[in-house]
Amino acid sequence: MTGSATAPRLGVVGSCNVDLVVRCRRLARPGETVLGDDVVRLSGGKGANQAAAAARLGANVSLIAAVGHDESAEWLLDTLRGVGVHDELISRSSRPTGTAFITVDDRGENEIVVSRGANADLDLADVDLEPFDVVLASMEVAASVLDDAASRSRHFILNVAPAAPVNPETLDRCAVVIANEGEAESLSLTSIEHCVVTMGAKGAVHFKHGREVARVAAPVIDPVDTVGAGDVFCAAYAVMWARGWPARDVLAYAVTAGALATLALGAQGALPTHEEVTTWLARA
Ligand code: RIB
Repeated sequence: MTGSATAPRLGVVGSCNVDLVVRCRRLARPGETVLGDDVVRLSGGKGANQAAAAARLGANVSLIAAVGHDESAEWLLDTLRGVGVHDELISRSSRPTGTAFITVDDRGENEIVVSRGANADLDLADVDLEPFDVVLASMEVAASVLDDAASRSRHFILNVAPAAPVNPETLDRCAVVIANEGEAESLSLTSIEHCVVTMGAKGAVHFKHGREVARVAAPVIDPVDTVGAGDVFCAAYAVMWARGWPARDVLAYAVTAGALATLALGAQGALPTHEEVTTWLARA
């Protein structure tokens, strides 16, 4: 880990997607058609969102991801470079760049279908993870990639999103596992040393072997779009964990960063800076 004066080096392993977003009054039920606004193309993917958020919060970040050879890839890489994410470890696949089909309703709730495309081809064989203080990973890549990353990272934080089975040895190697309430249902909290469960507008809880050790309420905010809020939470958590902050302070920082991320459309539309997060925390 790194001292608080130095920007932590963070490797983010995860997806890089084009998000095709349609706003609608309410989400469609199965078999139902609803009308929505014009489609908007935004940069997304859990890995890319986490990398962009961590860079904005002041970390030195490399995204470890796979994209296609298409125009979407060039556009996504430009966006990431624009927020200071290092892209040297992003590889190319013959499959199309990942795409997420997202609907967002009037209350800021969402539904997402991800076509993984190139993300499914990510392979870490040629990637040196040793330089990173922390590797943060999420689940829109192959399970074998997560196992590999966990076994070769100095400190590994896993965001189990979207929910899918995880090799128990990989869970054992995690410094912290981060899940939302739904994802946490498939985890055995008592067998995970540090598990952080996010609860949206209700904040987040830190469990140590299933015992609650910290709980933080979320700031009261009127969300515009909650897509990507969990990714910003994870990024903020990883950055402050790497800085060695106490567990409750890391949780409070991450909850605030995640809440601030809901104030504009798009997963990367309202990424807060470190100063914005600390200003909100000081007011609380
Ligand atoms: O967490 C939000 C992200 O999930 C979106 O950006 C979408 O691309 C999917 O990966």
